[in-house]
Amino acid sequence: MKATELLKSANKEETALLEKLEPTRFPQHLAIIMDGNGRWAQRRHLPRIAGHRAGVKAAREIIETSARLKLSMLTLYAFSLENWRRPQAEIDFLMRLLREYLKKELPTIHKNNIRLLVIGRSEQLPEAVRRDIEEAMRFTAQNTGMKLVVALNYGGRAELVDAFNAILDRVRRDGLSGFQADEQTISQHLYTAGLPDPDLLIRTSGEMRVSNFLLWQIAYAEIYVTETLWPDFSRARLFEALLDYQKRERRYGGLGSSGGNSSGSGQRAAARHA
Ligand code: FPP
Repeated sequence: MKATELLKSANKEETALLEKLEPTRFPQHLAIIMDGNGRWAQRRHLPRIAGHRAGVKAAREIIETSARLKLSMLTLYAFSLENWRRPQAEIDFLMRLLREYLKKELPTIHKNNIRLLVIGRSEQLPEAVRRDIEEAMRFTAQNTGMKLVVALNYGGRAELVDAFNAILDRVRRDGLSGFQADEQTISQHLYTAGLPDPDLLIRTSGEMRVSNFLLWQIAYAEIYVTETLWPDFSRARLFEALLDYQKRERRYGGLGSSGGNSSGSGQRAAARHA
């Protein structure tokens, strides 16, 4: 199957990029730090909220395209623990926008066989948002296509703190005095337990930071930073990021396929790209 067959409605620029992509080597899990909504609006002398509206439009297109490309998982950083420091009016608008998005897009999400999951301290979100999220997750729970993970009220350090406390609780409850944790123990207590780590992390708007996003999970992720502001992150920009990813050799600390004895994690890389 060629990448161009996955997306029938592509324009000329998109088709040219799609032709260069190898569908068997797409990242399984793509994670995105969507940044630059405010700057996008500022450049147009519009209020910041106009940038967020345009950001939702971009998110909608990237979600649908990722599902068509048959990625297994897409994680979007929608609201961080640090975002509470913004003006209350902007926070309220972002929460309203999310509810509006869920209400409007849920039928399409469902039709595209996408399963919605939310990670973060959702218990601290406004009651109405929590209710809508729970309903959307229930509604799509049986879907078997792409998993769309929305990070909401999310912080990577907070996730680790929550994981450590959950482990401590278990140790105390079960009286496991000699218990030793390993990497698997920690992975299994993260919000993302049972889900694969990101293969590719995209950050828009040129900032060279990970901003407390999936700190544990991005250990071996390829990172792609683009100057494009999130509202301008179109399908063509996504294909460019995927093309860049496909040119890289993932080595997981080993020597890769070009030399040396590829054992352990190197084999994992080779197996994933087989
Ligand atoms: C960054 O722009 C973006 C956010 C704070 C997240 C909001 C994301 C959306 C509205 C996209 C919608 C997502 C879904 C899942 C529907 P910024 O305000 O930090 O931009 P700036 O750095 O230029 O000020």
